Amino acid sequence: MKLGIIGCGAIGTDVAMATDEMEEIDEIYLYDVVEEKAMELASKLKKAKFMHVEEFIPKVDIVFEAASQKAVREYAEKVLEQGKNLIIMTIGTLFDDEFREHLIDVAKRHGAKIYLPSGAVAGIDGIKAASMAGIDEVTLVTTKSPESLGRHLSRRTILFEGNAREAVKQFPKNINVAACLSLAGIGFDRTKVKIVADPVVKFNSHKVLAHGKFGRLRAEVENLPNPNNPKSSYLASLSAIALIKKIVSPLQIGV
Ligand SMILES: NC(=O)c1ccc[n+]([C@@H]2O[C@H](COP(=O)([O-])OP(=O)(O)OC[C@H]3O[C@@H](n4cnc5c(N)ncnc54)[C@H](O)[C@@H]3O)[C@@H](O)[C@H]2O)c1
Repeated sequence: MKLGIIGCGAIGTDVAMATDEMEEIDEIYLYDVVEEKAMELASKLKKAKFMHVEEFIPKVDIVFEAASQKAVREYAEKVLEQGKNLIIMTIGTLFDDEFREHLIDVAKRHGAKIYLPSGAVAGIDGIKAASMAGIDEVTLVTTKSPESLGRHLSRRTILFEGNAREAVKQFPKNINVAACLSLAGIGFDRTKVKIVADPVVKFNSHKVLAHGKFGRLRAEVENLPNPNNPKSSYLASLSAIALIKKIVSPLQIGV
């Protein structure tokens, strides 16, 4: 399988390094808006070379985006209309209902698939399965240090309580996790979000609570930062690598 990667920052680098070691991946094409970054990363890998996105789309089977909302808007349609599969890391871009539905329509018409890794949150598998019978309520409680939420506070403070649609408007940096959870479950308007700033915490934690016909779900992850970028949770990179492993594997584990 041939893979194209857009964005060679923390996540793109982790994915490029991991897929370079996967026997199912034959060739990797790397692009970053900072071209030197992609070239330097390519020079360290066995199967990778630098190439512009438009040039590598026809050559690859799947494109992995780990860049920005701008990159998703610029390239997603181009990838899908050539019938190529696309993994989107910047899931927050799909908060725009019209844009998301358009991409789904393009993918459908050209026989392509859009994959969204579970990213920095846990419990997406349970939410997806539970939603088959209808979920009554989904709540995301995100707890971060005040500094990582751009505040200076000495006490635990609830900064936001409302639905996911409103949360992503007020806290765009939390948008990927809330977007993934909303799309897996009951949508942006019904998914509840609570954002807590706590000076005591050392980890970014995401707790998912849900109940419905299946019973109750409670999943919590305490994320360590990516060793290469303290602003990114390491689990996000690992979820992308696990998804690619799933795509190339004959054995499919989890929904
Ligand atoms: N789904 C999740 O849970 C989750 C978790 C963490 C990060 N993310 C998202 O994944 C993306 C990558 O995260 P990261 O931690 O690797 O970020 P990063 O800042 O370390 O790397 C992003 C890279 O993309 C490049 N880039 C930016 N715009 C580009 C464009 N238009 N075309 C090509 N390259 C471009 C940058 O130069 C940079 O090298 C971000 O958008 C982030 O919001 C998602």
